[in-house]
Parts: sequence; structure tokens; C-alpha cells
Amino acid sequence: MPSRKANPLKVTDTTLRDAHQSLLATRMRTEDMLPMAEKLDEAGFWALEVWGGATFDACLRFLREDPWERLRQLKRRIKKTPLMMLLRGQNLVGYRHYPDDVVDEFVRRAVGNGIDILRIFDALNDLRNVERAMRAAKAEGAHVQGTVVYTESPVHDTEHLLQAARELAQLGADSICLKDMAGLLSPLAAADFVRRYKKELDLPLELHSHYTSGMASVTYWKAAEEGVDIVDTCASSMALGTSQPPTESIAVALRGTPRDPGLDLDLLAEVSEHFREVRKKYAAYDVFITVDANVLRYQIPGGMISNFISQLAEQNALDRLSEVLEEVRRVRKDLGYPPLVTPSSQIVGAQAVLNVLLGERYKVVSNEVKAYLKGLYGRPPGPVDEAVRRRVIGDEPVVTTRPADLLPPGLARARREVGPLMEQEEDVLSYALFPPVARAFLEERLAGKTGVDYELAREGAQEKAVYYPA
Ligand code: CO
Repeated sequence: MPSRKANPLKVTDTTLRDAHQSLLATRMRTEDMLPMAEKLDEAGFWALEVWGGATFDACLRFLREDPWERLRQLKRRIKKTPLMMLLRGQNLVGYRHYPDDVVDEFVRRAVGNGIDILRIFDALNDLRNVERAMRAAKAEGAHVQGTVVYTESPVHDTEHLLQAARELAQLGADSICLKDMAGLLSPLAAADFVRRYKKELDLPLELHSHYTSGMASVTYWKAAEEGVDIVDTCASSMALGTSQPPTESIAVALRGTPRDPGLDLDLLAEVSEHFREVRKKYAAYDVFITVDANVLRYQIPGGMISNFISQLAEQNALDRLSEVLEEVRRVRKDLGYPPLVTPSSQIVGAQAVLNVLLGERYKVVSNEVKAYLKGLYGRPPGPVDEAVRRRVIGDEPVVTTRPADLLPPGLARARREVGPLMEQEEDVLSYALFPPVARAFLEERLAGKTGVDYELAREGAQEKAVYYPA
């Protein structure tokens, strides 16, 4: 450690959001979270990431729970520690762009129901896709964490990532997150980024990584040496594999150094014990990955590979897995090297499977790839392959404006369509984001049936454990 002066590393706990999204297909229920809320609040974390990402969708779609109610319940119990959510820029907590009025209202309600820190990212690092949400969050007085999505490609060097950080700072970010959703960030790459960032930018820097490649704890250590301000970890029983590094290990490793985070290890032990038991309930969804060396070989998030395995197994084509993984690389290059995070991970992955199984590249093209090549997701990080673009969209024009500028307002329509199903203003937003899924939920709620029982959820596990790298 360069300086002996105490400069505690701050820590964000991700147990209630990213950890179960990464390990348990986002299936953890609110009732399994609440008993630990006060203990997490007392343990000394800088923030608790508890909402957003895929949890909103999973609540409505699989758990038949109201995500807004989850947030309120947590806020009631967690009084000291700021609550963080993950917001996919103009995609909010969904998989497509939403109109600006929906973005503004969603952010307003998220803050109103208890979110203090919004970590806002765009899969392509296209800042036009985060600007609106950042402005809305600022207007609500929330802490805005601008996010640089980390990936490796010929166009993503340290300078490229630093430039994204500079621009987020100019947009008014209160802190910056370097987000490594695939666990690709090596210790030396992290040290290089943090060192250069710290020379130039004053905003606190938070590092978010996943354990998938087995490097993340070492990466955090190097980043801590270089002065990173905050890191993301989770309870040890919900850590490792495709999830975050374990809090307890980081806390103890840093003892006796100026970066000792000073967390309450006794409370953390109770928290981990609780989730060790809880995790057993969700065994049907558990990814059970320790270290996935394929991540190091293919730069593909671990969960994507397990999705390929189940998709290919269904088609009796498991022997094509290595071809698919190779094809992911080529599709990603064709598309200008999008980082593999939701939703680009799904877009690239599905097209790679089509290209391999149909025996001809781009013979059938998903609507998402068409939209991507029309510029409807934003500006790709690098140049797209023009031959592929012509083949897929012909002479159709490519959008160069901010994609959401093309969308008509959505709130009034959602309100009309929800009609008598509405019990709270937030229902309009749930519906605006996921119309059929929210309708089904709201109808069941009206009929007094919410919350799928656990056995039912187990049955669902066989058919749908879709992984959303986040
Ligand atoms: Co993550």
C-alpha cells in the first residue's frame, strides 16, 4: 500500500441484487431478504445494492411479487445505509429503450420509494442513452453513479474507458463505476485504469467485478493499492463463481493496512449463515460454477455459456458449443465490439447460435440484430462490418440521432391500458415496462393471488433459467 495514512476502502454489498441474479437466476424472494436487512444496515457498508437490473422483471414474471413493495419493505428496515439500484440507462430495468416520460417517472418513483444511489449504464457506453436518466436522478436529488462498462476488444483500451469516465463526469456524475460484468478485468489492467483515473478525476471510483474468471479478489487488491474508493462484494455464502468476491475475505485481507474497510465481521457471519440456508431453497436455479476458465479463453460471461449449453442441448447440438463460442467472437466483431452485458449479450449470443445451427451466417437474423444495425440501440463502440450491415438491413437508413428521440411518450397510454387494475401509481410504470407480464401480475393481484409458492417455482426452473449478465 503506497501510503500509511488510513484511507478505508468503502464497500457496497450486492447480496440482494447482483449476487442472486448471477447465481440463482434472480429468483430470491423478498421474504428471504428481509430477515437480514437490519444486520446489513449495521455492518458498515457504504451502500447496499438491492434493486434494479433483472430483479424488477424477475419479481413480476417469476415470483409474482411487486418489485416496488420489495423496495419499500427494504427501505423501512434499512435506515442508515444508502440503497443502490442498477439502471440500464434508457432501458431502465428492461431490454429496450423507453420513452423519456417513462424514464423520468420511473426514476422519480424509484427515488421516491427509497433508492438513494442510481448506478446508470448503457451496454454500448453510448452516453446519449444515459443522459436522460442521469438528469432525472439529479433532479430528484439522488446520487448519480455514472458507469463505464468494461470489456476487452481492439477498440476498448484504457484511454477509451477513461474518455467515457471523463464524459460521465461532465454530465454531472457524483461518482464513477468501472463495471466488469464478465469478470475479465485483470489485476494489472485494473491498477492501470485506477492509477490513470486518480491522476485526472476527482470523483470517487467504485469497482464492480465478478468472480467468474477467479481473478476478482486479486484485482480488487491491486485496485485498492492504487486508491480505488469503493468495491462491490457480497456475503461469502452468495459469493464466488459468477457472483462477486466475498466481503469477509476482502475485509480480513485488508486488516492492518490503511485500506481496512472496518466492517463488522460478526454481523457478516450471521448474514452469510442466513444466506447459506436460503441458497439451498433455490438449488434448482443455482449455477454451481466455481471458476469458469472459458471466460479467460473466450471473454464471454460465464452465464452466457451455460445458456448456450442448455439451448444447444435442446437442439441435440451440444457438440457445436465450441463453434458457437468462436462465432460469438466473430458476431461481436461484426457488430463493432459491443460489451457482452444485457441486452447486447443476448443479442450477440442468439445470433451466434443461429449462425452456427443454420450453417450459414446471417441466413436468419433476429429482429434485435436488425435494430442494432439500424442504430436503434445506440452507437456501437467500434465500426460495424458494412457488408454484414448491407446484408441484414439493405438500404434502410441508419439512425444517427439519440434512439429515444424517435419514441412517442408512453405513460398516458400505459395508464389507459392498466385502467382498473391500478392500485398504485407505480403499477403504470410496471405496465409501461413489461405490458403482458405486468398485466398478468396485476390481474392475479386483483384476484388475491400473488407470490408463487416455492414448489411451483421449482417446476419453472427447468424451462427458464435465462442469465442476464449485469
Ligand atoms: Co454485476
